[in-house]
Amino acid sequence: MTELFTWTPDSWKNYQAKQQPDYQNINEFNRVIAQIQKAEVITTATKTANLLQLLRQVANGEALIIQAGDCAESFSEFSEIRVTAFTKLLTKMQQLITKALDKNVIKLGRIAGQFAKPRSNSSEIVNSQILPVYRGDIINGYATNIEARTADPKRMLLAYKQAQYTAQLLARFDKQEVNKDAYQTTFISHEALLLPYEQAFIRQNNIINWYSGAADSLWIGKRTAEPQSAHVEMLRGIANPIAIKVCADMTSDDLIKIIDKINPYNLTAKVMLVIRMGAHISKQLPKLIRAITQEKKSVIWLTDPMHANTYKASNGYKTRSLTAIYAEVENFLKIIHHYNCYAGGIHLEVSPLDVTECIDANYMSEEQLSVNYQTLCDPRLNPQQALAVTKFFMSCLQKYQISHNIIS
Ligand code: PEP
Ligand code: CO
Repeated sequence: MTELFTWTPDSWKNYQAKQQPDYQNINEFNRVIAQIQKAEVITTATKTANLLQLLRQVANGEALIIQAGDCAESFSEFSEIRVTAFTKLLTKMQQLITKALDKNVIKLGRIAGQFAKPRSNSSEIVNSQILPVYRGDIINGYATNIEARTADPKRMLLAYKQAQYTAQLLARFDKQEVNKDAYQTTFISHEALLLPYEQAFIRQNNIINWYSGAADSLWIGKRTAEPQSAHVEMLRGIANPIAIKVCADMTSDDLIKIIDKINPYNLTAKVMLVIRMGAHISKQLPKLIRAITQEKKSVIWLTDPMHANTYKASNGYKTRSLTAIYAEVENFLKIIHHYNCYAGGIHLEVSPLDVTECIDANYMSEEQLSVNYQTLCDPRLNPQQALAVTKFFMSCLQKYQISHNIIS
């Protein structure tokens, strides 16, 4: 608890910060950060406070969350048309569930700031040349030459401008909705990975004190979700709802430690646990649920059935199979209901375009991946697949809720 009193927006610098680029032009880096620090934030404290309010309904078992969007946003693919198509897709997913289950669904986009990517290695060999890896458009370029791969601070300004414009577009669509209510809003979220950039958005305000104006909700990725990580340190001081990606290797001890840091007063709806365990879920998730229940931690349980189900197809494409995604969704819901917990929603990587990145026993084979494979990062569901997964989630939810009610 005492740690809370020593938090400052830059106290993360006393901890080990993984996944950070190596900026060589320090003067330019400082100039860019100073500029962002003075600039307008991307979301408002009022909107973030509204999200917290809505999440309380999820925590109380009355509403659900759909968190979805690109694995990484890019500079070159950005367009107003694309943002419109994304919003329409997210709304369709929302309406599918709302109509079938008569439950409100919160739309949380992986958008307006989802630019930085965690990587397994910091360099790679291309044509016998060692290059720094691509870390997302906010940091470096995808092209395989040293110029593109060198971390460029000016990219943070481009990311900021695109995020701001995207957020303005989303706000404009919200206003156009006829039956306006809080559930029409598209809230924004991204992984808080690039720490100096994230720090520049931490502001103080009389609505919710210290908060991040970079997004309504931020998440801590699998590779930085450790009790002593600089990322946990930064996020523990802000009022925004925080999601933690939880992989199969996470111990209940570490998870409890992270939760205690992020939410020392055990506030309702502050912490979302995004479970991404793949085939290990049946063995690992029950342990964590028992620990969380025993310690009486207030958390919202979400499933990310994609990130632990990535593999290389025989033709070299990085892909995911809908069969594995369905299996993880079903196992997640089965376990959550078995332990009398509430399934708060689903986290997916989707594209509003007809991409061919995930395979599907009925409609998409490995051979078809090459037709429209576009991702620079992880394979995403196309709209048809995204709706199919949403439907599957919804029907499983019905099935396990019903069977659970009969048993209990
Ligand atoms: C992601 O959500 O794109 C991601 C990298 O997830 P994770 O940290 O769970 O691997
Ligand atoms: Co991803």
